[in-house]
Amino acid sequence: MSNLLVTGGAGFIGANFVHYWMETYPQDKVVVLDALTYAGNKANLDPVAQNPNFVFSHGNICDTALVETLLKEHHIDTLVHFAAESHVDRSITGPDAFIETNIIGTHSLLKAAKKIWLDEGLNEENHRFHHVSTDEVYGTLGPEDPAFSETTPYAPNSPYSASKAASDHLVRAYHHTYGLEVTTSNCSNNYGPYHFPEKLIPLVITNILQDKPLPIYGDGQQIRDWLYVEDHARGIDLVIREGRLGECYNIGGINEWANIDIVKLICSLMDKAFAEDPTLAARYPQASLAKQGNSAELITYVKDRAGHDRRYAIDPARSNNELGYQPIETFDSGIAKTVTWFLNNESWWRAVMDGSYRDWIEQQYTGREG
Ligand code: NAD
Ligand code: TYD
Repeated sequence: MSNLLVTGGAGFIGANFVHYWMETYPQDKVVVLDALTYAGNKANLDPVAQNPNFVFSHGNICDTALVETLLKEHHIDTLVHFAAESHVDRSITGPDAFIETNIIGTHSLLKAAKKIWLDEGLNEENHRFHHVSTDEVYGTLGPEDPAFSETTPYAPNSPYSASKAASDHLVRAYHHTYGLEVTTSNCSNNYGPYHFPEKLIPLVITNILQDKPLPIYGDGQQIRDWLYVEDHARGIDLVIREGRLGECYNIGGINEWANIDIVKLICSLMDKAFAEDPTLAARYPQASLAKQGNSAELITYVKDRAGHDRRYAIDPARSNNELGYQPIETFDSGIAKTVTWFLNNESWWRAVMDGSYRDWIEQQYTGREG
């Protein structure tokens, strides 16, 4: 039996991880610490909210005293760290929050973990700090370059990836210097349910449903290696249970796609969904091009992202050989599940679009009823 502290558990991957963990290990206690920034959504945790083994704490990872209290109060032995500013475009226009949360926030967690687990000795012999990072720390690949492995030198290009790289180094240093029991996973682009619709895949799905343009940055030939979010959760689970202390494990989908091809694929899946299910046209009256089978007409080439990395790809050899890790979903099955989830969860993404997903926070601090 374990007591987990999951930071960023109200975000996209964190929430999927919490759902996965509470289903897989129903005896474990899961405490989520989340600041509910624009990317945090309390509704992402609705499926577990009534579970007696679930606790939600609204707070900031930079608040070291709060983290220390949570570690002690809930007798935490495993900290899984997802909380971050995660969107590259936002890091280009406003890097400060990325430095604050991704670097200073990670250091705040490390300090608290060291104090409670090592200095005060709570769970000294049995603790784990698992840090969730990204393949973007390795920089960018040319078309023929071998995929990123755990020994690829760090070469982050965006303020986002630079801040994640810094946090990876701090985690490593706390292991090397103080003996904190850490593991790190660096994964490729995730997709799936609860994905915030500022990222490519959910943006394209929800824009088709509203007949809005589908922005393709530059020539659309940039490549990403897409990983279904539940496969990521399984990978983290394996690293926590079987990974070597102090090590990093790359988790990928073995699934490279050019952006434009993925957008065209989603267009065709949406057109097919509308053709096969006549109720969709009534439920989504705005989606006139999908109804006609012409979603791809919404594709619009726009100015490229500054410093846009050309290609990411993960060499999964270490996680495969050492942990037996393999993604379960194929891209066909994962993207079909994702499209279906968004079609069936209109109230979730509409609440994000109209801002009402923030009501919970408003109510907490004004006492207003929703
Ligand atoms: P997200 O932006 O959807 O969610 C981030 C969560 O962290 C939100 O709930 C937010 O409220 C919370 N948060 C932000 N700042 C906080 C703070 N200071 N204190 C407490 N909570 C805070 O992110 P995501 O896509 O779920 O990514 C989760 C992790 O996985 C991040 O560390 C990210 O770098 C990493 N990652 C993501 C991807 C991806 O494809 N999304 C790929 C590789 C790695
Ligand atoms: P994104 O989902 O933001 O993830 P990341 O930048 O972490 O890879 O973007 C995925 C790819 O899609 C990336 O190459 C940028 C591109 N992109 C677009 O072409 N148009 C868009 O509107 C968005 C959000 C992304």
